[in-house]
Amino acid sequence: MLIPAIGFGTYRTPDSSEGVAAICEAIKSGYRLIDGAAKYENEKMVGTALAESGVARQALFVTSKVWPTDMGYDATMRAFERSLTDLGLDYLDMYLIHWPASPTHHNDWKEINASTWKALENLLDLNCVRSIGVSNFKPSHLEPLLASANIPPMVNQIECNPGMRQQATREWCAERDIVVEAWSPLGRGRIFENPLLLSLARKYGKTVAQIALRWEVQSDIIPIPKSVNPDRIRQNINIFDFHISDEDMEAINSLPIFGESGLDPDAVDFG
Ligand code: A2P
Repeated sequence: MLIPAIGFGTYRTPDSSEGVAAICEAIKSGYRLIDGAAKYENEKMVGTALAESGVARQALFVTSKVWPTDMGYDATMRAFERSLTDLGLDYLDMYLIHWPASPTHHNDWKEINASTWKALENLLDLNCVRSIGVSNFKPSHLEPLLASANIPPMVNQIECNPGMRQQATREWCAERDIVVEAWSPLGRGRIFENPLLLSLARKYGKTVAQIALRWEVQSDIIPIPKSVNPDRIRQNINIFDFHISDEDMEAINSLPIFGESGLDPDAVDFG
């Protein structure tokens, strides 16, 4: 299955019937990529929603991620098995390394990333997963990984929105055919009051959220918005009936940086 152009995020989707309802609403609205992670501690709930959605397994694109405390070959293999069991599935469409081991915290960061990647390559060989990639990797993390990998990462999921465009990492990935996905594509609300985005929303008859998501799609980025609100879930996928002009794309691309969370992959320490 090809990777869909937009996904639905499950970070902080409640581990309850409300979460199941949100995911079922998303699938009903047309989302097919459901992005999760062991760290979100709701994979059983996600599995329940996938089963209840009524959409065939092969029509869905399900992602999970291995958390830093589970990195290394053996621990990654075990973490994958746990996620698969919790989700109630017999394969995943994509498995990602959630955060890179970084030189800030680990002398052997290259080896940690490389041995984790070996496990992902093995899972791909075994047909347990259809594609493999990374998340929050900068070119400085990707360079040594690519040097030791047999199979290069297919995807890098990074924080990205109109107020935090990650131009250097995106260009680096594009040159190597690594698809970029965006987490927090709405900047977790930080971009909603931006005057340019507000004026573009008025101009195109859309919301700021839709302008942001459309900017991402037109920039070859796969956004992973999340919401528990049915109207906003539908609104966020209703972005394929308009086109932002080149001039307006350029204006967004010239905005100062204002939408970042501050979670620098070389500064955070998740273990
Ligand atoms: P809610 O679940 O109440 O809709 P991000 O994906 O950038 O991390 O942002 C997620 C946050 O943005 C969630 O708190 C979500 O809240 C809110 N959100 C999602 N879609 C929209 C939208 N279209 N308009 C306003 N807020 C939104």
